[in-house]
Amino acid sequence: MTAAAVPTITLNDGTEMPQIGLGTWKLRGDDAVRIVREAIELGYRHIDTASSYGNEEAIGQAIRDAIAAGDVTRDELFITTKAWQDEQGADRIPAAFQDSLHRLGLEYIDLYLVHWPDPTQGKYVESFEAVARLQGLGIVQAIGVANFYEEVLREVVEKTGTVPALNQVELHPGFSQAPLRTLHEELEIRTEAWSPLGRGIVLMNPVIDEVAREVGKSTAQVALRWAMQLGCSVIPKSGDSRRLAQNIEAASFTLTPAQMDAITELDHQQGFGRVFDDPRTFPA
Ligand code: A2P
Repeated sequence: MTAAAVPTITLNDGTEMPQIGLGTWKLRGDDAVRIVREAIELGYRHIDTASSYGNEEAIGQAIRDAIAAGDVTRDELFITTKAWQDEQGADRIPAAFQDSLHRLGLEYIDLYLVHWPDPTQGKYVESFEAVARLQGLGIVQAIGVANFYEEVLREVVEKTGTVPALNQVELHPGFSQAPLRTLHEELEIRTEAWSPLGRGIVLMNPVIDEVAREVGKSTAQVALRWAMQLGCSVIPKSGDSRRLAQNIEAASFTLTPAQMDAITELDHQQGFGRVFDDPRTFPA
C-alpha cells in the first residue's frame, strides 16, 4: 500500500487528513520508535499520540529519523497529540501544547485535541477555547476534541462559537455511535474511531467473520473498512509488522451496503457496546 492509496478526509477548516492513522497508546521507547518507522515505510502518514501516552519523545525521534533517511517529509505527515486532564484550563493549555511540541521535537502539530471532557472539572469549554487561540499562532493546523458526548459538544460550540474539526471517540462494530455521528454531521465535525477493533472483541464475531470470508480479507480489515465507509477515520494500534501492513490495506476494498448493514446491526446484539470508560463519568 502506498501512502497515496490511503484516502484523505477533509476537515471543516480545509485540512486534509489521511483516513487511516497509527494509534500509539501503550507503545513506548525503542518499540515505539521502531514501529513508527516501520509504519511510515509501509505508507502510514497519520500518527496519533497524546501527552498521557508517555511516548511523544519516541514518536518525535522516529519522525526525525524517517525524515533524515529521506522516507518522508514533514509536510507529508499528519501528527495528532492531545492535552490530558491535568493540562486542562485556559491557563494551562498553552504550556501543555508547548511541552508536547518540545517532546515531539516538531515545529507544529497537525491536530491538537482536548483528550477527555472530564465534566467534574468543568474546564472543557475554556480548554477548547484556549486550544482555538493556539490555532491563530501558526503552530497547530487543526483543532478538535476527543471523547466529547452530545451535550458537551453542543455546549462547546454554543459557548465558544468555534466548531471542533474532529471528535475522536470509541467506535467499532457493536458500538457505531449512531446518535453522536448524526450530531457530528449536523455540526460538520469529523468522526475519528479510536479502538476500531474494540480491543480485539470484534475479531471473533461470526457476522464479521462471514463478511471477511465473502471479501477475502481479515476480520480486522473488515472492521476498519466498515468504520471508513461510515465516513470515519480510524487509528488502529498494532505493535506487529504483519498486522500494521494488514490494517493499512483496509483502504483497498469495498463492502456492499448489505455487508455494511449486517455489521452496523451488531449495535443491537447482546454483549456488544462500549468497551472502555464512559466519558460522562471518566475519570471520576
Ligand atoms: P498487536 O499490537 O499485538 O497487533 P484497538 O486499536 O481497537 O484498541 O486494537 C488494538 C489491539 O488489536 C491490539 O491488541 C493489537 O495487538 C490488535 N490488533 C491490531 N491490528 C490487528 C489485526 N490486524 N489483527 C488482529 N489484531 C490486531
